[in-house]
Amino acid sequence: MFTNFPLFPQQASVQASQVDGIYFFMLAVTAFFSLLIAGLVVLFAVKYRRRHEDEVGAAIHGSLALELLWTVIPFLITMVMFAWGAKVFFDLYRAPAGAMEVYVVGKQWMWKVQHMGGAREINELHVPVGRPVKLIMGSEDVIHSFFIPAFRVKADVIPGRYNMLWFTASKPGRYHLFCAEYCGTKHSGMIGSVIAMEPTEFQAWLGGGNASDTPAAAGEKLFQSQGCIACHRQGAALQAPLLTNKFGSTVTLQSGARIVADESYIRESILNPQAKIVAGFPPIMPTFQGLVSEEQLMQLVAYVKSLSTPGTAPAGAPANR
Ligand code: CUA
Repeated sequence: MFTNFPLFPQQASVQASQVDGIYFFMLAVTAFFSLLIAGLVVLFAVKYRRRHEDEVGAAIHGSLALELLWTVIPFLITMVMFAWGAKVFFDLYRAPAGAMEVYVVGKQWMWKVQHMGGAREINELHVPVGRPVKLIMGSEDVIHSFFIPAFRVKADVIPGRYNMLWFTASKPGRYHLFCAEYCGTKHSGMIGSVIAMEPTEFQAWLGGGNASDTPAAAGEKLFQSQGCIACHRQGAALQAPLLTNKFGSTVTLQSGARIVADESYIRESILNPQAKIVAGFPPIMPTFQGLVSEEQLMQLVAYVKSLSTPGTAPAGAPANR
């Protein structure tokens, strides 16, 4: 349905039909009431027009039944829109567990992509069909927006934090990728392609040779070269929290607050270590702001993450750190 209607991009993800469902429902409701009201305006204007110079309109005193009717019916219709829209929004917002994760960095004016296996791409994103894909996105400079019309997904990519976006491609093909936030002179050139492939083809593509270190392995090297390992290890003179099985766990802070150590928390702790100190540790960690790029931050996050996910830690990573 609608695939040959040039006003709309094709539906190439599981999300697309859900988004289009509510979109066309709202369009239909709006069109119906627009026509109804415009039609009645014309009809009444003709039917009740003044026929004589001295004609005076009849006095009316309102109608409770009528007012209830035109209050209750729109209320119910908008509640349907609200509940349906909220359902679609929450589905779009929360990636299912076990989604394939891909790192995306936006910068003036390109999209840099790195897969967990190490494969890198620029202005292209290869994904398998039929599998949820979760993008973990950051920006190196200004606000960009990652937009795949055929998948009906869009999310701002914001400097200073991570944003997520997820989809399940449903149809193999090459689809437009746009930056949908004005980000400077060459914003209009910040475009690319998303290539959805059959899972076997995708595996072949992944093995195609453009792989470098996995993000986790690159992160491990940074962990050593930046000196993180000096404190974040068993028996260090200045003991910092050990990072094994830290990712995804609940951390108690000095303030007593408890938070889940997610990507954004790890990132913040590297750039602004004093923001959320773990209970029982002195606030001595220096900031790494300006020392690591957005991509390197993602690699460090991937490394910390790998210490909590059995089987994904880079070869040579010690069991306890
Ligand atoms: Cu990036 Cu517009």
